[in-house]
Amino acid sequence: MLTLILLCFCVCFLLAQFISRRPKNFPPGPTVLPFLGNVLSLSLENPLSDFERLRKTYGNVYSLYIGSKPAVIINGLKAMKEAMVTKATEFAGRPQDLYVNDTTQRKGVILADYGPSWKEHRRFALMTLRNFGLGKQSMEERILGETQYIMKTLEEHIGKTLSPQLMFHNVASNIICQVLFGRRYDYDDDFIKTIVQCFTENAKLANGPWAMLYDTFPMIRSLPLPFTKAFKNVATCQKIAKRVLAEHKRTRVNGEPRDFVDCYLEELEKRDDTTTFSEEQLSMYALDIHFAGTDTTSNTLLTGFLYLMTHPHIQERCQEEIDRVLEGKDHASFEDRNNMPYVQAVLHEVQRVANTVPLSVFHCATTDTELMGYSIPKGTMIIPNLTSVLHEEGQWKSSHGFNPENFLNDKEEFVKPEAFMPFSAGPRMCLGEGLARMELFLISVTLLRKFKFIWPEDAGKPDYTPVYGVTLTPKPYRMKIQLRERQ
Ligand code: HEM
Ligand SMILES: *[C@@H]1O[C@H](CO)[C@@H](O)[C@H](O)[C@H]1NC(C)=O
Ligand SMILES: *[C@@H]1O[C@H](CO)[C@@H](O)[C@H](O)[C@H]1NC(C)=O
Repeated sequence: MLTLILLCFCVCFLLAQFISRRPKNFPPGPTVLPFLGNVLSLSLENPLSDFERLRKTYGNVYSLYIGSKPAVIINGLKAMKEAMVTKATEFAGRPQDLYVNDTTQRKGVILADYGPSWKEHRRFALMTLRNFGLGKQSMEERILGETQYIMKTLEEHIGKTLSPQLMFHNVASNIICQVLFGRRYDYDDDFIKTIVQCFTENAKLANGPWAMLYDTFPMIRSLPLPFTKAFKNVATCQKIAKRVLAEHKRTRVNGEPRDFVDCYLEELEKRDDTTTFSEEQLSMYALDIHFAGTDTTSNTLLTGFLYLMTHPHIQERCQEEIDRVLEGKDHASFEDRNNMPYVQAVLHEVQRVANTVPLSVFHCATTDTELMGYSIPKGTMIIPNLTSVLHEEGQWKSSHGFNPENFLNDKEEFVKPEAFMPFSAGPRMCLGEGLARMELFLISVTLLRKFKFIWPEDAGKPDYTPVYGVTLTPKPYRMKIQLRERQ
């Protein structure tokens, strides 16, 4: 009996040695268990503090095993720049065998692997966003127009309190809907309610505990466990998207595209068989872009107003600058940002502390490569820790707390430190950056010009700890609205 037990031990020990040993010169990390990987080293609910411990032990570039698959976590500006910018394409892949892969079927652009389909679709999105007026008047008009709807909501709450979560989700979602589908939706429209709800849920599921179990244990994938919810959500959204596509196909006029979907359909007609464009791609692609642009922008706005309310002197200083620059004007334009260094600094600091996409979107090595002297084999999953750059000691005047001085020089001019990477960097960098920055500026300035936002007296101390997910969300809060007296 004893020999049998000993034998078992030996077998397990040998398995541990052979199956799960790190490749030669691979970044260091905790001991790997066969089959389980490092799942036991992490708390599934909120692994953030475990990661901090691992980084302290193993350094800025360390590795973890998710099941039998190795992942390399990149921390700090130096390593991040080497991977994302210097080595660019060598780190521009996306892992293809995870929960998120299965939920998106690899279509679209966000999770598409580095290759012709991703390239074509990315180029198309950048070009189309530009042609629909990014950097020109018309995108501004869309944003300002949509902002009027939330102004109405706020006006109805003057002297009262309001939970702004849904309001910011709706505004961000509708701006993207106008770009994609050429129309906006009423805030109680089922279309928008369903999509927003599916996406909010999936953003929390995608790197929650169930997703980690799904990735670690392939044998549980077909079981009816909570992760199946994400597949249902995607199917629901797909159905809605298909309906919108069918309608577009029926009503579109060649040469007069109304929106992104029309542009794509037109392009699809023009291209030959070698193209990666297809209608199936389009429905996932449109959802992809809608998703990428909704949760991110709205959570950044939510964080912004949380900090502006709890730092009234900063809010007032913004308002002074806004009043001065916009004096005599009907509305703000994106150009005005060049005369508003303080507002610019505040909005960038909001993005820094909001840390909206803390671990970026996971990358993947497209070839055998090296990073900070370590060898990284092709196919290794890469986790860019953007938080570690946005909060890195030494890169900021003050990396803790909320301090717009981080983006101002001695002459009170706006400056952007290199470590400002909320949109990531390199060939995979957020392709909606231009749109997002325009939205953040125009919406914030328009609202701050008209209203004063007050932290309610009975709300207790503000809790800045975000809710963990692919995107970080501030804890739900309420804001008190007052009309400002116009100078
Ligand atoms: C404050 C708002 C936003 C933040 C913080 C943000 C952040 C990010 C980050 C960190 C990534 C991953 C980059 C990487 O893999 O290295 C990303 C990718 C992406 N974002 Fe954004 N984003 C924002 C708004 C938007 C908007 C408004 C759009 C819509 C046009 C958008 C579309 C995308 C797309 C399509 C990708 C995938 C790019 C690719 O894989 O090539 N994002 N974003
Ligand atoms: C990312 O960096 C932050 C700040 O240094 C740290 O708290 C967090 O644990 C890191 N996450 C990972 C996955 O290494
Ligand atoms: C990734 O998604 C594709 C498309 O749905 C699927 O065929 C493939 O099996 C998935 N990969 C894994 C390892 O699950």
